[in-house]
Amino acid sequence: MKVIAIANQKGGVGKTTTAVNLSTALAAAHKRVVLIDLDAQGNATRNLQTTTRFAHNSYTVLTKRSTMLQSIITTCIPRLSLLPASPDLASLDIELANEQKRERRMHHVLSDFLSTTNAPPDAHPYDYAFIDCPPGLGLATLNALVAAHLVLIPMQCEFFALMGLAQLMHTIRRVKCNFNATLDIMGIVLTMFDERHTLCQRVAQDVEKHFPNITFTTKIPRNIRVSESSLYSKPVLLHDTRCGGSLAYIKLAKEFLIKEKIS
Ligand SMILES: Nc1ncnc2c1ncn2[C@@H]1O[C@H](COP(=O)(O)OP(=O)(O)O)[C@@H](O)[C@H]1O
Ligand SMILES: [Mg+2]
Repeated sequence: MKVIAIANQKGGVGKTTTAVNLSTALAAAHKRVVLIDLDAQGNATRNLQTTTRFAHNSYTVLTKRSTMLQSIITTCIPRLSLLPASPDLASLDIELANEQKRERRMHHVLSDFLSTTNAPPDAHPYDYAFIDCPPGLGLATLNALVAAHLVLIPMQCEFFALMGLAQLMHTIRRVKCNFNATLDIMGIVLTMFDERHTLCQRVAQDVEKHFPNITFTTKIPRNIRVSESSLYSKPVLLHDTRCGGSLAYIKLAKEFLIKEKIS
């Protein structure tokens, strides 16, 4: 099972939208996927379920009150499971402040899960685990980066985006040095792209120039159907399969599969 953290310390850049729709597109391509919602706001959970209240969730898992096996639920999408979030995640940093190795909780949860599912090593129940990180670089994001093999960075094409990206790259390097030597950056996904805007194009060119090997060629366009789909607690791929946003996420899934094989 490959673990991919979807991270960017900025909020509103398309992390959750990318987590939900990339997971959905991969499940449609017959991959078995579990989406782990680590954001107290529970937007990924709300995009896949009509309720966000679950007794067992990512918070109870990280605080050892439930196991991952007990807490994963199925979704309306075949092959896509969800570890829902809880608003209690907001107090995770405080609750675990005095705990030893608190940054490794998710790593241990996933190892325990893989060893208790009774599957032979090459037949684990999931091909991919995506972790939808909250904004900020707090304990939940740190847990995701320590547990992950790869990190995928959604980035909105706006003026301050590159500055934020430098800070995130610095954090990833520190995590790699101190906690998770095998962590790799899978790529940067440009989101809410509007080719009519000069600023958008400039930022995209700058990102491609500074990070030529890791920028996904697929750009996710700004598309009203994407934002609308949240209203219906659905991934955009179910809301309107043929809109620009859906087609872009299908293309991204194809590019993801190629990159993932290489990495
Ligand atoms: N491609 C897109 N086109 C239009 N709206 C989008 C697109 N991607 C995301 N959004 C909207 O932007 C907002 C922030 O996206 P979200 O994925 O929740 O960001 P994050 O998880 O980084 O905070 C949401 O309201 C979402 O519906
Ligand atoms: Mg989010």
